[in-house]
Amino acid sequence: MAMNYSEAVMDHFTNPRNVGEIEDASGCGTVGNAVCGDIMRVYLDIDDDGIIQDAKFKTFGCGAAIATSSMATVLVKGKTVQEALEVTNKAVMEALDGLPPVKVHCSLLAEEAIHAALWDYAEKNGIKIEGLEKPVTDISEHDHDHDVEDEDEE
Ligand code: FES
Repeated sequence: MAMNYSEAVMDHFTNPRNVGEIEDASGCGTVGNAVCGDIMRVYLDIDDDGIIQDAKFKTFGCGAAIATSSMATVLVKGKTVQEALEVTNKAVMEALDGLPPVKVHCSLLAEEAIHAALWDYAEKNGIKIEGLEKPVTDISEHDHDHDVEDEDEE
């Protein structure tokens, strides 16, 4: 049952870039996916001009999550916070020459963790980043529509 991973995915999985933490990060975000149990944390170092100088990640995630986070951190470095919002999971997958369909959800972990880190940065600095929505901590909620029953009521 071989899956077709691109060379780029294998490269970023076996030799991930930007693994680690940033002390006193400008923004830090953690998200998980309750369905697969994987967790991702992203740290961003953002300068006074709003340019992302450094990005690092730590994950308790699968190979595809590692590869996509590696690529996502590579892509956001040197960008403004606004430009970083364009580093969507689709952009990351394109940069990696695709992912097998069952692994596409893994790429959301990177995107959402970056958004969470940007949100943290914005909150710390009392600014608003146009187009950035409040992140969720469990991205598997994104897979469903928001018709959650209220179970507290009897
Ligand atoms: Fe959970 Fe890939 S299986 S992130």
